[in-house]
Amino acid sequence: MVFSITRRSILQQATAAAAVATVANGAIQNIAKAQPSDGEAYWQLVRRQFIFPESAVPMNSANLCPAFQSVAEKVAAVSRIVDYDVSLNNRAQFNDTLSAARAKVAAQIGAEPDEVALVRNTSEANSTITNGLDFRAGDEIVIWDQNHVTNNEAWDIRAKRYGLKVVRVAVPRVPESDDQVVELFAKACNDRTKIVTFTEVSNVSGLRLPAKKLAAMARGRGIHCHVDGAQSWGAQVLDLHDMGCDSFAGSAHKWFMGPKEVGILYVRSGRAPGIWPNIIGYTGEIKVELDLKNALKFETLGQRDDAAIAALGETAELHDQISPERIETRIRELASLLKAGLKEAGATLVTPEDPKMSGGVVIIEVPKDNQKTVADAMYSKFGIAASTSGGLRLCPHVYNTRAHVMRAIQGVTSMRDLIKA
Ligand SMILES: Cc1ncc(COP(=O)(O)O)c(C=O)c1O
Repeated sequence: MVFSITRRSILQQATAAAAVATVANGAIQNIAKAQPSDGEAYWQLVRRQFIFPESAVPMNSANLCPAFQSVAEKVAAVSRIVDYDVSLNNRAQFNDTLSAARAKVAAQIGAEPDEVALVRNTSEANSTITNGLDFRAGDEIVIWDQNHVTNNEAWDIRAKRYGLKVVRVAVPRVPESDDQVVELFAKACNDRTKIVTFTEVSNVSGLRLPAKKLAAMARGRGIHCHVDGAQSWGAQVLDLHDMGCDSFAGSAHKWFMGPKEVGILYVRSGRAPGIWPNIIGYTGEIKVELDLKNALKFETLGQRDDAAIAALGETAELHDQISPERIETRIRELASLLKAGLKEAGATLVTPEDPKMSGGVVIIEVPKDNQKTVADAMYSKFGIAASTSGGLRLCPHVYNTRAHVMRAIQGVTSMRDLIKA
């Protein structure tokens, strides 16, 4: 299968997308009615909520997911209403949009609405923590060495400016147990440690850390625990009160399949007073004394995009219709199918095989020099959009069918030589 982009094929794709759109409009009402027992037919219905063509199948959720079609349409519709008439009178219809979306998202992740700030992405949420906590020279920051740059090198910059020490924890590719991981982090902590922070599911290995146990270890010592949930939110059932972390970050444009440039920063009740906001936007009145008591102070980011915020609420509703449990189970099923097939193709998994130690991020080893060639061929010859983070990274989601996963396996099988070289 070779795909080339010509004007004709773009037109054909646009027509196909329009056809998918028509089907999707009818299908959207059926998601809630259909049952998981409907099996692949149910997931075909979910797949039809997305406009991507079969020639460009997304399997790159760790980076960016397509939004549900109705979510993208909501963004377009609200943008149009705003651009048609930007008066405050017209925009007043969106005054409650942000608080409504926040309440829906908070309920879904096991948090109170005033513990959740709707920010712009995980980078911004992580940055609020890296720059907002009070530290003294000599304080120590314990991080996982697999953290994303926004929760990794960002700490080196803060440390350089304020005389802090960053301690990096490495864990085995496949840890023996949760306790081994907790022990490694605990050993890195001492009475100067002020924060323990890690990515729950790594974007560069796919390994899942035991967030609840790590949070208990940190908080038991009076240490702030921050979790980067960029690869968790939208992919798994979340109950942040149960996880017990002090703060948590996520992006709606990843596994949540929502609008672009919306994210969340959760700050556990009672923790916000200890964290300074980085951005002070207009809040209706200029305050010298900021209201510092809850997470909402992290939301004053200047002019917001009503369309994206409105679409966030729409996305949360779709997650409720499908159900976060069903989404998590389906991702696990597809990731397991993918891992088994990749192993059979002779690939070496970077990600642990055990679903309890991983999420939807699946990575195989590929020699550095071949990574781009392999990812490019996956796209151009097999119509699978993958990425090269940590090897070849494939992240199946609910819009993928089992046939998409089989196609990805077929692609890797055909490139055995490049993967092993
Ligand atoms: C673990 C992790 N944290 C943070 C980010 C940054 O996300 P965003 O670009 O949406 O801010 C990413 C992006 O891939 C990520 O994988």
